[in-house]
Amino acid sequence: MTETPVLASSYTFDPFAQHKFYHDVNQSLVHRAISRLDAAHPTGKPVRVVELASGTGAVTELILDELERLGRPGTVIGVEPSPEAIEIASARLESRGAKFVQGDADSLVAVAPNADAIFFCNAIHLVPDKRDAASKIASALAPNGFFACNSSFYQGAYAPGSERFYHLWTRRALGWLRKNHPGVRTSRTEKAMAMQWLAPEDYAQAFEATDLHVVEQVEETALMPLRAWQDIGRYWLFIEGALPGVPIPIGADALEHSAAEAMSELDITEVPRNWLQLVAQHNGH
Ligand SMILES: C[S@@+](CC[C@H](N)C(=O)[O-])C[C@H]1O[C@@H](n2cnc3c(N)ncnc32)[C@H](O)[C@@H]1O
Repeated sequence: MTETPVLASSYTFDPFAQHKFYHDVNQSLVHRAISRLDAAHPTGKPVRVVELASGTGAVTELILDELERLGRPGTVIGVEPSPEAIEIASARLESRGAKFVQGDADSLVAVAPNADAIFFCNAIHLVPDKRDAASKIASALAPNGFFACNSSFYQGAYAPGSERFYHLWTRRALGWLRKNHPGVRTSRTEKAMAMQWLAPEDYAQAFEATDLHVVEQVEETALMPLRAWQDIGRYWLFIEGALPGVPIPIGADALEHSAAEAMSELDITEVPRNWLQLVAQHNGH
């Protein structure tokens, strides 16, 4: 399970999750998956929806809205490793009937079995073994249940022409660190801003190997303004990936300043970013 650093409450995902493009891209996936779920169940039958990595509840809220819009009764359970995130999500959404429990893919079957749909949004890239996670998700799904996930960290996430922004952002962040905190070093400088990114077909393959059949795969482009890059740059989990080994408050300032510098130098006000959106269905046995 992911360790949450002490400073997590000041460097949350929440400001990023408030951006309109983020709402829109997630709503698109929620709409695709919940429409299928709704069509697969008789009118009025309650459904059981689980959201793995529910975080501070941005997608949970969209799921609740979509079920309500369709008049579909059901329960929504968020499973999330970070207690700080659970606290924020609970304060926001428990009054609407959502429940949040601490856990990850390993605990899914125990805490939220027999789900009609499982969502895993903007987090699957954080899991080192995708096939193992998919297999645990498949075990927690009811026969013919749906699995929906998305990520903007995959091979294809960089919209054509946007690479120069990432290169410059990294260079300027490292330069800012050298100038303002000469004693601070990243632990893997050459890997800054890099993670192990899978191609869409790798995801499909990992799912197929565990009785999950991809029924919908689309890529959607979001236009992200400067403030969004700065907000993701102030999220502790992103900082750990982008500037490994750098203290979170210093990394946050470095990424915030350098995003503004990079965009100003390139004379741009937004950078397009692609999201991979996948809906899969359990084979039913
Ligand atoms: C970028 S946030 C996404 C939150 C929400 N799903 C959304 O789409 O807005 C990533 C979330 O994944 C959680 N997380 C990190 N590693 C995880 C893991 N191995 N399994 C499940 N969740 C994880 C983090 O605690 C965090 O809440």
